[in-house]
Amino acid sequence: APDINVADVQQDLKELQSIAEANGGNRAHGQPGYKASVEFIKGKLDKAGFETKVQEFDGGGMNLVADWPGGSEDETVMVGSHLDSVESGAGVNDNGSGSAGILEVALAVADAKLEPKKHLRFAWWDAEELGLVGSQHYVDSLGADTEKISTYLNFDMIGSPNAGHFVYDDDATVQGIFNDYFKEKNIETETSSEVNGRSDHASFAAAGVTVGGTFTGAGDTMSEEQAQKWDGKAGESYDKCYHSECDDTSNINEKALDLHTDGIAHAVWQLSS
Ligand code: PHE
Ligand code: CA
Ligand code: ZN
Ligand code: ZN
Ligand code: ZN
Repeated sequence: APDINVADVQQDLKELQSIAEANGGNRAHGQPGYKASVEFIKGKLDKAGFETKVQEFDGGGMNLVADWPGGSEDETVMVGSHLDSVESGAGVNDNGSGSAGILEVALAVADAKLEPKKHLRFAWWDAEELGLVGSQHYVDSLGADTEKISTYLNFDMIGSPNAGHFVYDDDATVQGIFNDYFKEKNIETETSSEVNGRSDHASFAAAGVTVGGTFTGAGDTMSEEQAQKWDGKAGESYDKCYHSECDDTSNINEKALDLHTDGIAHAVWQLSS
């Protein structure tokens, strides 16, 4: 898998921040900043050769879905992140980080002219913050095609300033792919109880799809032991700006963002081959 240039991810985060600033300070569901975020990401994907669709749903919802042409659609690997923020801020870590990370991996797929055995599909969900509404709507719309999703990978918060390195434990095989990657980088991982059922992978898991993902932590507090192994600050939240106005471009740990984005590429290359 390629090494994703973290400067490209940071540039996307700058753009998402600017979009929020130009639209009342947020990118929340139903707000103009959300629609502008969809247009920004869609423009890059279209230019790179993805087949993109905006799936609209009740209440002005908009999911963005992007297919990389080729591969067996009966075995589709999906990668998703929620693109909506809360209303209190720009949502740069939550979840500009996952949104930009998967975007740059998608663009790397295009750059590499990847011809994977499995079909690859990327998605940016709306209304996660309202209770996983966009991803649930998408899964409902799949019907019998749900069986064709061989794996769904979710990325929600991958640049937390006081970063932990968490891997979802829903599926041992997918968990192993991420753990092998982190091991190569000499980073110890943990599972997180903060993750369980609280992001869009839960919509897929409930429909019987194999899921996985990584996470750098939200509002919970880092322990002494974690601070030692991750070179962090004990007694402080992983993200002290979680769901706050200060979740802006200064609220990103670049090392964590880089590490987790390269991890997405590793998993996408491995799972789709
Ligand atoms: N879904 C939560 C939010 O957007 C945060 C979260 C991310 C929780 C990842 C668990 C796993 O606020
Ligand atoms: Ca990198
Ligand atoms: Zn959130
Ligand atoms: Zn989130
Ligand atoms: Zn719906």
